[in-house]
Amino acid sequence: MNGSKSEHNLLAKKSSNLNGTIAIPGDKSISHRAIMISMLAEGKTKIYNFLEAEDTLITINVARQLGIEINQSSNCIEVKGNGLAGIQQSNKDLYFGNSGTSMRLFMGILSTQDFPSILTGDDSLSQRPMERVALPLRKMGTIINMENNQAPIYIKPAKEILGIKHTLDIASAQVKSAILFAALYANSKTVIVSESITRNHTELMLQYFGYPIQYNDQKIVLNTGKLRSIEKLEIPCDFSSAAFLILATILAKNSHIILENIGLNSTRIGFLKILEMMGADIKITIDQNQFEPYGTIEIRSSQLHGINVPKYLIPLSIDELPLVFLAAACAKGKTTVRNADELRLKESDRIKSMKITLTEFSINVVEHNDGLTIEGGTITGGEIDSFGDHRIAMTALIASVCSADEILVKNTKNIDTSFPNFVETMNSAGLNIQSLDN
Ligand code: S3P
Repeated sequence: MNGSKSEHNLLAKKSSNLNGTIAIPGDKSISHRAIMISMLAEGKTKIYNFLEAEDTLITINVARQLGIEINQSSNCIEVKGNGLAGIQQSNKDLYFGNSGTSMRLFMGILSTQDFPSILTGDDSLSQRPMERVALPLRKMGTIINMENNQAPIYIKPAKEILGIKHTLDIASAQVKSAILFAALYANSKTVIVSESITRNHTELMLQYFGYPIQYNDQKIVLNTGKLRSIEKLEIPCDFSSAAFLILATILAKNSHIILENIGLNSTRIGFLKILEMMGADIKITIDQNQFEPYGTIEIRSSQLHGINVPKYLIPLSIDELPLVFLAAACAKGKTTVRNADELRLKESDRIKSMKITLTEFSINVVEHNDGLTIEGGTITGGEIDSFGDHRIAMTALIASVCSADEILVKNTKNIDTSFPNFVETMNSAGLNIQSLDN
């Protein structure tokens, strides 16, 4: 999964104290859903604070290939939705690059259509499991084929889409969302039951677009209906991107950062809960709640201590677990994260990538099949590869706020998939990250 050429290498040197009010880009998960739902709605939707990163631009490309008119201006994306029946066959294969969310959610939409589709991805995405999405969709009458649980995915036209009752057996918002998208086309209501709580952006947005859906933490009931467009859809800033600055501030000395308009959906902010349990000084205020709650996060430098991370917080902090491992490496005492086997199936095997990274930084780490136990210590710095994974690259770079020596991260181009201005944003807060490319 690693890039073949050694390029896009970033060197993080000793940082100053972190201070200021720092702007964070729009939420990735919500940006994907905003394009997908507005393209299926009846009429024009204007989306503000859309994240312009490689993954979300892929969602726009695919929507355009399916005949949707999308106009991009400097501050707004306008999507002309043609209703649920308004998408057309693409004359080419649909390419999803590195974006798992785009591919999995579009499987739900495309498998219900009366035309065929072929979905492909880059090397990393083509190694990630896709049967988890296809299995429940097939129960609904869709025809989806692939080999070895991996893309390319071949979809054939479906005759009729059946409403189903389905119990989710993995804690995955992507699987849940793919079923919800397919259920928009079903002949009767769909019920999804789940033991774990996962991010609920699809449920919230479908409801905001006027779709008949009821849900609580354990059960979703989606009836037949249609989606109306929204004049102004404002996307909150991405909590998962903010998380890098949150931890950097906690670990740096004498630092104080304010982040505004950050998405504070309770299904996304398990990381804050974990940091608070470890002793972090964090204050949150919810300022607005259009269809997603968002507000201000104020963070100060804090001394952390080790904990056993509770199981229920794992899906609520799934993308932030590499940062939890780094927090543990800098905390006093031992931290254990278990029940996180899903981490092995992300853009890299994040249990292995973080074990190698922290070991390079001279931290004692014990690997479990479903997590890590980490003994807090002093981060020495060192040299690592990004493992083809944006979140590993960014996590390793922010360790420079407390490392004894410089940190070199190789092959960091993948940062553009979720946070293209990462280096500028971090440096504006006080980090010192430099590109080694000419
Ligand atoms: C996402 C869900 C999560 C998360 C991913 C984005 C989403 O994946 O890791 O980055 O937008 O629905 P899983 O559904 O595989 O847990």
